[in-house]
Amino acid sequence: MAFTKKTVRDIDVAGKKVLMRVDFNVPLKDGVVTDDTRVRAAIPTIKYLKDNGAAIILMSHLGRPAGTGFEAAYTLRPAAEKLAELTGYDVKFIEDTYGDEAAKACADLKPGEILVLENVRFLKAEKKNDPEVAKKLASYADIFVLDAFGTAHRAQGSVVGPAAFIPAVAGFLLEKEVDTLTSIFAEPARPFVAVVGGSKVSSKIGVLDHLIDSADTLIIGGGMAYTFFLAKGYSVGKSLQEPDWIERAGEMLKKAEEKGCQILLPIDNVCADHFGEDAEGVVFDSDKIPDDMMGMDIGPKTTELYCDAVKKAATVFWNGPMGVFEIDQFAKGTEAVARAIADSDCTSIIGGGDSVAAINKFGLADKMSWISTGGGASMELVEGKALPGVEALLDA
Ligand code: 3PG
Repeated sequence: MAFTKKTVRDIDVAGKKVLMRVDFNVPLKDGVVTDDTRVRAAIPTIKYLKDNGAAIILMSHLGRPAGTGFEAAYTLRPAAEKLAELTGYDVKFIEDTYGDEAAKACADLKPGEILVLENVRFLKAEKKNDPEVAKKLASYADIFVLDAFGTAHRAQGSVVGPAAFIPAVAGFLLEKEVDTLTSIFAEPARPFVAVVGGSKVSSKIGVLDHLIDSADTLIIGGGMAYTFFLAKGYSVGKSLQEPDWIERAGEMLKKAEEKGCQILLPIDNVCADHFGEDAEGVVFDSDKIPDDMMGMDIGPKTTELYCDAVKKAATVFWNGPMGVFEIDQFAKGTEAVARAIADSDCTSIIGGGDSVAAINKFGLADKMSWISTGGGASMELVEGKALPGVEALLDA
């Protein structure tokens, strides 16, 4: 599916002030950025704007501050420093977002210069999408660019607001994310295999539902598999389970059968008698999980089955780990499936969140076709929802 909104390519930015919403919501440790993926992802648009003579004002949230003013733990200064380090550009930073200092710094900015404003969430009104916030931010610039894919599902002041006051277009990251994550549903090369894991059926019900409509095979792993087992009448011992979702899981299985989508559930499981680093794994078939055990990972027969399905795929979408991959003895299933995806020639699209952490842990990031920078945003797109930030932009 082609991206249907205007992008920075469609607007003259030379000599203009451009207000760009990025997602610099990056992890910090002791004031240092520990994963700079999101900063790197914003660079192509920043570079394009700079090379084309725009003065660039960057804004973002970081974390979830109280919204009552400056909090040192959530300052964007480290992200601004990281941008300077990665690009070699002179990146100015100002400890203000909505006040006179920010307004003056924006007014003084020259073509080719880059300024990062302080965390937009230091003011509560941002999250409430107060039009006064948007109006203030929009007053700094001639053009608004949204490149914060990871936040495009939030109808918040700095994401959707400026579009009501100044022309609003997409950056390259936003365009690529939306294009990639929607085109797998429009025209996937087949077989299209979706791999969904993670702990809860309830949090991914919309994703599963939409995938059943399009995928040839849906592989289910992780904690959510046990609610499906309950729907099939198996007992799951102490495994993670959502009793309120058993009926819905059963409906999913039925829908898949009607739609001709093959669902693969684990046939064996690595179980333990408690959750922890010291827990010892024992393998049980899915219909034989003892009452005092809990599933921690997919078992060896399942791993083989899942890897075989992935190897035959032309397109793979993956979101969510197959087990408790943070604990080494329960990471084997997730690692094997990740390696099978990485080693295949398929188009591999990875939804954000835990799957990205798993891929990074196994050092496989370079081997995937696309890794989304958005967690919640990528899930909403995969559910088939429109993202408010994208909706607000000018139509192409
Ligand atoms: C994310 O990390 O998913 C985005 O930056 C959105 O952050 P939020 O969930 O705090 O809105």
